[in-house]
Amino acid sequence: MSERVYIFDTTLRDGEQSPGVSLNAGEKLQIARQLAKLGVDVIEAGFPISSQGDFEAVQMIAREVKGVSVAGLARTSFSDIDRAWEALKVAEQPRIHTFIATSDIHLQYKLRMSREQVLEAARDAVKRAKGYTSDVEFSAEDASRSDLEFLCRVVEVAIAAGATVINIPDTVGYASPDEFARFISAIRAGVKGIEKVVLSVHCHDDLGLAVANSLAAVNVGANQVEGAINGIGERAGNASLEEVVMALYTRRDLYKKYTNVKTEEIYRTSRLVSTLTGMVIQSNKAVVGKNAFAHEAGIHQDGVLKERTTYEIMNPVMVGISHSNLVLGKSSGRHAFRNRLEELGYVLSDEELQKAFVRFKNLADRKKEITDHDLEAIVEEEMRLVPTTYSLAYMHISSGTTIVPTATIGLLKGEEKLDEAACGNGPVDAICNAVDKVTGMNCTLLNWGIQAVTSGKDAIGEVTLKITADGDQVYVGRGISTDILEASAKAYVNAVNKLLWDVAREAEKNNGSSK
Ligand code: KIV
Ligand code: ZN
Repeated sequence: MSERVYIFDTTLRDGEQSPGVSLNAGEKLQIARQLAKLGVDVIEAGFPISSQGDFEAVQMIAREVKGVSVAGLARTSFSDIDRAWEALKVAEQPRIHTFIATSDIHLQYKLRMSREQVLEAARDAVKRAKGYTSDVEFSAEDASRSDLEFLCRVVEVAIAAGATVINIPDTVGYASPDEFARFISAIRAGVKGIEKVVLSVHCHDDLGLAVANSLAAVNVGANQVEGAINGIGERAGNASLEEVVMALYTRRDLYKKYTNVKTEEIYRTSRLVSTLTGMVIQSNKAVVGKNAFAHEAGIHQDGVLKERTTYEIMNPVMVGISHSNLVLGKSSGRHAFRNRLEELGYVLSDEELQKAFVRFKNLADRKKEITDHDLEAIVEEEMRLVPTTYSLAYMHISSGTTIVPTATIGLLKGEEKLDEAACGNGPVDAICNAVDKVTGMNCTLLNWGIQAVTSGKDAIGEVTLKITADGDQVYVGRGISTDILEASAKAYVNAVNKLLWDVAREAEKNNGSSK
């Protein structure tokens, strides 16, 4: 009989630790809601003691997102655990996730603690957490490089203190699949009480083995897998959850396991995470990459047309990628537009629908055929949570090989139109400088990237960029247009709007606390 594997999503905690990723509380909530829809079992919402922003985001998710466990991370210090509980206590199913490193290298250089001290800290932390909630997860950081005998002692102590989930991380992505499977088997054989708890793994991808190691562990009895959507996370990232889930599903003949994930929500979740984090998905990424179901070679195309399974081991519809070739165009009306969006799973308010429809009509003037990917790009842009302080009214760019690139930009701020012109090293630089002149800000463009949403010369270009004003907080902006300079201007304005929103909320909070 097939057994359940629990899916623990850490996109909002470990995933958010990816360099350059910084999500605000509203964005985190949007992702958490989608993760709940996806059907993951646990959402690790953040690390409450790490910052006030993280605390508030965990609390908001705990309060708003139902039908799923919400976890918060804590080191073993009581202040960490108390703070985690403060954020989590409003959750329907709260979980405190406490951790301490167990490898000698971490004990010696990072913690400067003896093995006995680590044992004691693990025991006390689990007991403290257990005083708050019945659902306590204990992680032995850098477990895969730890002395097995000592690790087993720590795990035993954590279980005796009340841990209900034991997590064995390959923190630095050092393990190889066979070795990791043997390691997990040895823990199962060597720890008293292990059969009473959920045995979890948390693998990093430094050697590109995170998914393989997770699956190897499942094969020998691990029944929770931790990972992140699109595999984002510290350094090379975490195990990509969509890959783990689809491997377990596609090869259920082999693994004989199941998850409760609604696979049809995978693609939408992946896009949302990519859009909000600004972490672009590589085209050849398994399951959710643009090319994951594209067939280039004539022989392959011929095979797929005759029988899909000749070259497709998964049906794209299973992961929520629409198979429809239905194309909308200039003459399509609001009804057809709304219907297609509903078929794609988007439910918009009347106001959002009206705005998206105007965008659709504008696009149809420039692009003959509007595909599902175009529609997704339009709708996702309209569904953003950030208030639009500025929007692009018009732009004029002069650029070439023998002139100084210059941009004239008109932005709307409410009813007011504000214009400025500026030069730059290139047209994008000139656009950013002109926007900065209008807004009075001085932002640094950290990176800029473009992806074609569809193919062809009239394809929509999707620009994703990152900016900072203080060198610390990073804001992701996204803009779409058939004109890549217009897409760049929109993306830059979008990032500036996020920054201004953050500043305004911070000011509001400070005013509130000084009253
Ligand atoms: O990689 C790791 O060890 C972690 C733990 C905190 C679970 O992220
Ligand atoms: Zn990790």
